[in-house]
Amino acid sequence: MGVIHIGVPPAPYPFVFGPACEWKRGRLLRRYGGSGPVFVLSSRRAWRSCGRAIVRGLGTGEIRDTVLLDDRERQKSLATVEKLARDLVRVGAGRDAILVVAGGGVVGDVGGFVAATYLRGVRLVHIPTTLVAQVDSSIGGKTGVNLPEGKNLIGAFYQPRLVLCDPAMLRTLPRREFRSGVFEIIKYAILGDARLFKYLERNLDALLRRNPQTLAAVIPRCVRAKAEIVVGDERESGQRELLNLGHTLGHALETATSYKVFLHGEAVGWGLLAVALASIALDKITVADAGRIVRLLARMGSLPALPAMPTARIWRMLRADKKARGGGVRWVIPAGIGRAEKGVRLPERLFFRIWAELPTMCARCSQ
Ligand SMILES: NC(=O)c1ccc[n+]([C@@H]2O[C@H](COP(=O)([O-])OP(=O)(O)OC[C@H]3O[C@@H](n4cnc5c(N)ncnc54)[C@H](O)[C@@H]3O)[C@@H](O)[C@H]2O)c1
Ligand SMILES: [Zn+2]
Repeated sequence: MGVIHIGVPPAPYPFVFGPACEWKRGRLLRRYGGSGPVFVLSSRRAWRSCGRAIVRGLGTGEIRDTVLLDDRERQKSLATVEKLARDLVRVGAGRDAILVVAGGGVVGDVGGFVAATYLRGVRLVHIPTTLVAQVDSSIGGKTGVNLPEGKNLIGAFYQPRLVLCDPAMLRTLPRREFRSGVFEIIKYAILGDARLFKYLERNLDALLRRNPQTLAAVIPRCVRAKAEIVVGDERESGQRELLNLGHTLGHALETATSYKVFLHGEAVGWGLLAVALASIALDKITVADAGRIVRLLARMGSLPALPAMPTARIWRMLRADKKARGGGVRWVIPAGIGRAEKGVRLPERLFFRIWAELPTMCARCSQ
């Protein structure tokens, strides 16, 4: 079992990586969560796949009650928050409750927001069960829900007491969902970890096969990378913006297609290809390094096709992103392998050229 300390002020917490059967031995839930009744918040699917391991891992008899939610992205809403809060009242959760939120990013974001706001905040433990949740959403304290006007527009920064991560829980994850998480891993490698990038070049196939040794090498590395960035910038005023690599176009694609075409990681995959092209055009990267990025992404297989829409419309969507400041879109651009630059402005004409070129990249992707 490995422990990564996430040093966010004022209360650092451990991210524990290893088999669920070992959680109980370390009395982790009580050591970090404290005393009080434990309520689990999960989704039907995550609980069906991982519930038994979680119950055993936390200790039989530890869980007072379990509340299940629908974890489709469109249910990531204030209505769901209200329903969950009322469910918690119904099952008798008081201020001393410990909320164990077990599932993918949707469950984590909604459940984390419920923990932040229910009775003005109760203790929170994350058990991430998707690859996206294990390498990304369970770290950093961002919680929230969507509005019809956009994604994650309501939320709070709220840190858990503990994260319990068992990579064996990924075994039941649909192949497409797993691959979606691998795009986030590639993102970490490009923006800050050249050695991880090299490792992925050698071991991408093993990672896609969910080889346990490969997962054990990669997941903690991504967690450390995110923790390092987040700790220095809990509220996203500086370095945290780097984590947005590939997400500027990614988010616009998700919005433009009403979240129906791309999984998050797939949209980020397109976004990473776009910034690789942009970095060559802006002379920020050598053609050789950009080639390595494109080749690694190509090995991920084909992506859902880009939506057929006028370039001007996608450009408008980019400008509407909540991370655009003062009307300008701030891009994160690779500045080599393992290095990225934030706050880069992309001239409209250059974006249009990249947008036109992208589909041919995917043709290369699907070979
Ligand atoms: N808070 C953050 O910092 C942050 C970071 C990244 C993403 N997110 C959010 O996370 C969400 C996406 O999360 P996701 O990619 O984990 O998807 P998800 O939560 O939608 O889960 C994907 C699917 O996998 C199922 N599932 C979960 N665990 C499973 C398991 N072990 N076996 C089988 N099926 C399982 C779920 O029921 C769901 O159908 C988005 O809403 C995104 O905004 C938040
Ligand atoms: Zn992401």
